[in-house]
Amino acid sequence: MSNRVYIFDTTLRDGEQSPGVSLNINEKLQIARQLVRLGVDIIEAGFPITSPGDFAAVQAVAREVRGITVAGLARANFKDIDRAYEALKEAEQARIHTFIATSDIHLKYKLRKDREQVLEAAVAAVKHAKKYTSDVEFSAEDASRSDIDYLSRVFAEVIKAGATVINIPDTVGYTTPEEYAQFIRSIMEKTPGIEKAIVSVHCHDDLGLAVANSLAAVGAGARQVEGTINGIGERAGNAALEEVVMGLYTRKDRFGLTTGFNTKEIYRTSRLVSSLTGMPVQPNKAVVGKNAFAHESGIHQDGVLKERTTYEIMNPEMLGISSNNLVLGKHSGRHAFRERLSELGFELSDEELNLAFARFKALADKKKEITDQDLQALVEDEIRQI
Ligand code: KIV
Ligand code: ZN
Repeated sequence: MSNRVYIFDTTLRDGEQSPGVSLNINEKLQIARQLVRLGVDIIEAGFPITSPGDFAAVQAVAREVRGITVAGLARANFKDIDRAYEALKEAEQARIHTFIATSDIHLKYKLRKDREQVLEAAVAAVKHAKKYTSDVEFSAEDASRSDIDYLSRVFAEVIKAGATVINIPDTVGYTTPEEYAQFIRSIMEKTPGIEKAIVSVHCHDDLGLAVANSLAAVGAGARQVEGTINGIGERAGNAALEEVVMGLYTRKDRFGLTTGFNTKEIYRTSRLVSSLTGMPVQPNKAVVGKNAFAHESGIHQDGVLKERTTYEIMNPEMLGISSNNLVLGKHSGRHAFRERLSELGFELSDEELNLAFARFKALADKKKEITDQDLQALVEDEIRQI
């Protein structure tokens, strides 16, 4: 089994399903460009059938980004799939991601279909998608609450129909690490043909276990992890990709697995997503929170000053968190100002930069040192609101 884990980023699709978040095409493109720099393998750019705006955004990302796969989501019906491909067709590598629920609770109350009807729809959808692209992902929504024998039958049939990635979502964030790992192992053992497909996981964070569940699944043999930057997404969100990747990296002694992530872009990506979605990152958030590398108590400060690794298991510089304490103040020039904003994940137009620089100078006249938080507030509250 390969030791490469593929990272599937769904910030622009599941992430955008966070209550209150709506990104325009330009914002989606900015995030997509940054995700390419970050080194994700697949960008799920949206759900084209849902709105003309979503369609246009998927099309724009598919047209522009190169060297990576662009996916579009589609329910298991021909209309959704046709629309998804229409949006994706200019991508260098297009993936159609089709899904249908497989748990009895979803079949009974949501789909009002029986198991045979769902199986039929899943197979027909994959065969239809396959006419457009060789790269077809099938997701069994609410897989972790589905009957495992039925699920395995669905997977075997969609693989026969041509699915190349089999996704096993914990749609409602219900499972636990040991249980999920065992579930993945059993699916891999009992599904004929599964060795031809990549096994993927997609975890939600309703019980705060999305990252732990994703790592447990990878330990059990999954080789694609789906998630979002900063863990944004429906309800309590999705698995935070920066945490999954840093978990794999920091504990490579345990996992022995690699990703294509350029970890130095993590902080910048986190900042960009936070500023464009308007979803703040909690200060104590793992990996990218403001306090993730802050040491308050005397004992900890003493330890870190003597040897950083006493209380730091990751090097902040690896994440692109600058240890360069270049202080910005009233004598700072436009170049240093632009650089610092870029490190913080803000790419401004010339016009925005001029305005921001003027506001910065005015602030610097009143305040000796301008902190990252000041800059963040200045851009988010004054420039982006105009
Ligand atoms: O959570 C989920 O099950 C999903 C699927 C569409 C993959 O987002
Ligand atoms: Zn989801």
